[in-house]
Amino acid sequence: MKNQWVNALRSGDNVSSYFGVFDLNIGTTKTGAKFLKIRLGDRTGTVEGRVWDSALAEDLYQTLALGDIVIVQGTVTEFNGLQVNLDTCIKVEKEHVELNDFRPCTEKDISVMLDDFIELLATVTTPPLKGLLETIFDSDFLTEFSTAAAAKTIHHAYGGGLLEHTLEVMHYCCQVCEIQGEGINRDLLLTGAALHDIGKLWEYDQEGLSFNRTEEGKLLGGHVILGYDFVQKKIDLVNGFPKKLALHLSHLILSHHGQKEWGAVEEPHTLEAVALHYADLLSARVNQVSQLIKSHSGSEQWTNYDRNLGRSIYVPEVIKKGLKREKSS
Ligand SMILES: [Fe+2]
Ligand SMILES: [Fe+2]
Repeated sequence: MKNQWVNALRSGDNVSSYFGVFDLNIGTTKTGAKFLKIRLGDRTGTVEGRVWDSALAEDLYQTLALGDIVIVQGTVTEFNGLQVNLDTCIKVEKEHVELNDFRPCTEKDISVMLDDFIELLATVTTPPLKGLLETIFDSDFLTEFSTAAAAKTIHHAYGGGLLEHTLEVMHYCCQVCEIQGEGINRDLLLTGAALHDIGKLWEYDQEGLSFNRTEEGKLLGGHVILGYDFVQKKIDLVNGFPKKLALHLSHLILSHHGQKEWGAVEEPHTLEAVALHYADLLSARVNQVSQLIKSHSGSEQWTNYDRNLGRSIYVPEVIKKGLKREKSS
């Protein structure tokens, strides 16, 4: 299937592979001929492409859209950086490709994370919560959940990021239960952790290559409300789900952002809700800083200023050396 990656392309290579379409424009040469400027990409990066045949260029401009997957044949040349001159460019259906090959994707093994997630879910034994989790996480839903991103930017903003983040939050919550003892309802907290960001499946365009926010996400209150609505409907399907338990679980989802200015409908008012909020924040912040360090290049020991974090991060020499080794291997 995908046999050539953007970061491995070299001038002079013949290209015959699948790529995502990240940008499309029509240009005009000095002689007045139309040509297509197309930005091609995959999980390793993007590269400029050109279609010089004007009839093909105009046809592709009319029929292709951003986020499409295409199979191309062409040659790599050097012109202000690498450029692929395309001889053919054919749209393929997304069912025939692995979408996470064409967009930023987790570095972790999704199937290993999924096994871990299923194992953690199985530790929830309170019958109504166990019933609810089984109602939601059937095999089709698990597939959708495991390839989704947790955001467009900021944290876990890549395919598999929603599962990675959810799993981190669940593990942090397990630690809280271990350290704090029996005062915390572990089954309730773990169920809340598993479901807290479920609304992100609909807040972001999980079928696209850039995880843009959907109209549903923008108009219906984002993943907090979308997730709350979804879980309510699923609770109704579980026979005899206790009203008080539904209330506590709903509170976990609605309050997990901690503060109203951060998107919480209500501030956390239960022990489990406070624990979930801090576990969520810890996972998000550590990932944000890790991504900033990974994207840092150059000789400076400080990263660029990150607007969302409100600071730069210091990258000690020993970490920079490790990162260089990782990039070159
Ligand atoms: Fe959230
Ligand atoms: Fe979260």
